[in-house]
Order: sequence, then C-alpha cells, then structure tokens
Amino acid sequence: MNRKIGVVILALVFIAAWSVLPLLSAEEPAKPAPTYVGNSKCKMCHKGEAKGFVWENWLETKHAKSMESLNAEKGETKDPKCLKCHVTGFGAETGYNVETPNEDLANIGCEACHGPGSEYKSLTIMKEREKAVAAGLIIPNEATCKICHNEESPTYKGFDYTTALPLGTHMKVETPTETPKPTEKPAEEEKPK
Ligand code: HEC
Ligand code: HEC
Ligand code: HEC
Ligand code: HEC
Repeated sequence: MNRKIGVVILALVFIAAWSVLPLLSAEEPAKPAPTYVGNSKCKMCHKGEAKGFVWENWLETKHAKSMESLNAEKGETKDPKCLKCHVTGFGAETGYNVETPNEDLANIGCEACHGPGSEYKSLTIMKEREKAVAAGLIIPNEATCKICHNEESPTYKGFDYTTALPLGTHMKVETPTETPKPTEKPAEEEKPK
C-alpha cells in the first residue's frame, strides 16, 4: 500500500517537473516561423465601414488584380520572373507557388506588404501593435513598395510614394483629386459583401 502511494507521488513529481520546465525556459521560446495565411483570413476582421473599408479599398487597387496583367498563353502566370512581383510570398515555402496555386495568395495581397500572418493574426496579438510587430507584422513604408516598384519591372516608369500610397493601398484620400478615387468607391449604396 505504502509503496503504491510512493510510486504515485514520484510520478506526480515527475509530471509537475515536466510541465514547469518549459515555463522556466519561456524566456527563449522557439518561435515558429510565420507562414502565409491568405487574404480571406485578414478580410474576416478588416472589412466594412467600422474597419475603415480596408478590404473593400484594397479590392479596388491594381494590386488585387495583378495576376490579370500576366498572359497565361505566354506562360507568364507560371513564370518565376513575373510571379516574383505579381503574387504574394513568391519564393517563400508557404507563399504562392506554381505547383499548388492558392487563389488566396494570388495577386498582391495583404501579406505582400504586411508580412506572413500566421503568428500575428489572432485578436489578442493584433490588438497591440507592439505584439503584432514582434510576431512578424510589417508596418510598410516606401522601402516595402520598392521591393517590387523598381527598374527590374519591365514596365517601370518611376515611383512616387506620395501619390502611389492612396492608389496602391487602402488609405482614405483626405484631399479629393481629379484622379479616380478607389478609396471612396464603396459607399453606402454598395453594401460590402
Ligand atoms: C481576429 C481578427 C483579426 C484578424 C484575423 C486580422 N486582424 Fe489585423 N487587426 C485586428 C485588430 C482588432 C486590430 C487593431 C486595430 C483595429 O481595431 O483595427 C488590427 C490591426 C491591424 C493592423 C494595424 C497595425 C497598426 O498598429 O498599425 C494591420 C496592418 C493589420 N491588422 C493587418 C492584418 C493582416 C495583414 C491580417 C491577415 C494576415 C490581419 N490583420 C488579420 C484584427 C484582426
Ligand atoms: C509584391 C510586390 C509589390 C509590392 C510590395 C508593392 N507593389 Fe504596387 N504594384 C505591384 C504590381 C505587380 C503592380 C501592377 C499590378 C497590375 O496592374 O497588374 C503594382 C501596381 C501599383 C500601383 C498602380 C500603378 C499603375 O501604374 O497604375 C500603385 C499606385 C502601387 N502599386 C502602389 C504601391 C505602394 C504605395 C506600395 C507600398 C506601400 C506597393 N505598391 C507595394 C507590385 C507591388
Ligand atoms: C521587380 C518586380 C516586377 C517584376 C519582376 C515583374 N513585374 Fe510586372 N509590374 C510590376 C510593377 C511594380 C508594376 C506596376 C507598374 C510599374 O511600375 O512597372 C507592374 C505592372 C505590370 C503590367 C501592367 C502594366 C501597365 O502599364 O498597366 C504588366 C502587363 C506586367 N507588369 C507584366 C509583367 C511580366 C510579363 C513580367 C515577367 C516577364 C513582369 N511583369 C515582371 C513589378 C514587376
Ligand atoms: C501595397 C501594400 C499594402 C497592401 C497590399 C496592404 N496594405 Fe495595409 N497598409 C499599408 C501601408 C503603407 C499602411 C500604413 C502604415 C503606417 O502606419 O504607416 C497600411 C496600414 C494598414 C492598417 C492600419 C491602418 C488602417 O488603414 O486601418 C491596416 C488595418 C491594414 N493596413 C490592413 C491591411 C489588410 C487587411 C490588407 C489586405 C486586404 C492590406 N492592409 C493590404 C500597405 C499595404
């Protein structure tokens, strides 16, 4: 009887030690490498008026249709030389690839500018910029754009960040201009889907 209890106690001590050990070394957690999750994951929380029409505004940009500029008959939609800048996460293990083309990663999606989202997309992390950035969220700037907007693009005609920003992202245009305003399109009359 006594021996049995001894064995049980010993077992409990072991279990306790094993469950505490990882907590003690929590200073250095093995961070999983962020993976691409696709636009629809971001859409869940970033669509509609309360969220500043981020999703709807992005849909209006050329980025959302960048695959359409590639000619399938000429093989461009499978050409790494083009896909490099016309899809999301090309070259990364979990990014868009030719063998298993993922529509959610085709075109220049959220993660092309904001980085792969697997580690920052949960609400508790997203709510705090610092945590999100630590989990891989990129706050894009001019340098982010120039990863693709540069002389290597066969159609490059220069890049002006200030004018490109409202047209290329999902920003509200503060001062109306005569150029098309992708950011003001999805008003009340067209309920976002
Ligand atoms: C579970 C809901 C949820 C999901 C999924 C989500 N977000 Fe967020 N995101 C939030 C919330 C909440 C905030 C805080 C600001 C706000 O309320 O809009 C935020 C903020 C942000 C910010 C602003 C950060 C800052 O401080 O400037 C960016 C950029 C962002 N999200 C991008 C993304 C991207 C890209 C994805 C998809 C990979 C994504 N989010 C998925 C809820 C979400
Ligand atoms: C992953 C590559 C990539 C990144 C990063 C990127 N772009 Fe683009 N951008 C493209 C491609 C490709 C097109 C062309 C889309 C098409 O028409 O097929 C484009 C088109 C545009 C256009 C429309 C250009 C035109 O001539 O009509 C604007 C504006 C723009 N981008 C702004 C930006 C801004 C601002 C940033 C950074 C905040 C940015 N882009 C980041 C690849 C990128
Ligand atoms: C270095 C990044 C990059 C590469 C590589 C790239 N593109 Fe693009 N592409 C862009 C950007 C950025 C734009 C937006 C216009 C601009 O600034 O060139 C664009 C725009 C386009 C457009 C629309 C042009 C217009 O005026 O509306 C076509 C068509 C296109 N690319 C085809 C291709 C093809 C075909 C390839 C492969 C041979 C390719 N691109 C490779 C970045 C790239
Ligand atoms: C072409 C690059 C680009 C793409 C694509 C893009 N963003 Fe952004 N995003 C930006 C830039 C630039 C900022 C402003 C960063 C700063 O705070 O200076 C931003 C800011 C944000 C913010 C915070 C400010 C705001 O407007 O609410 C959210 C949320 C956000 N992005 C979500 C998204 C989501 C969701 C998608 C996909 C539907 C997306 N972004 C696609 C470039 C991009």
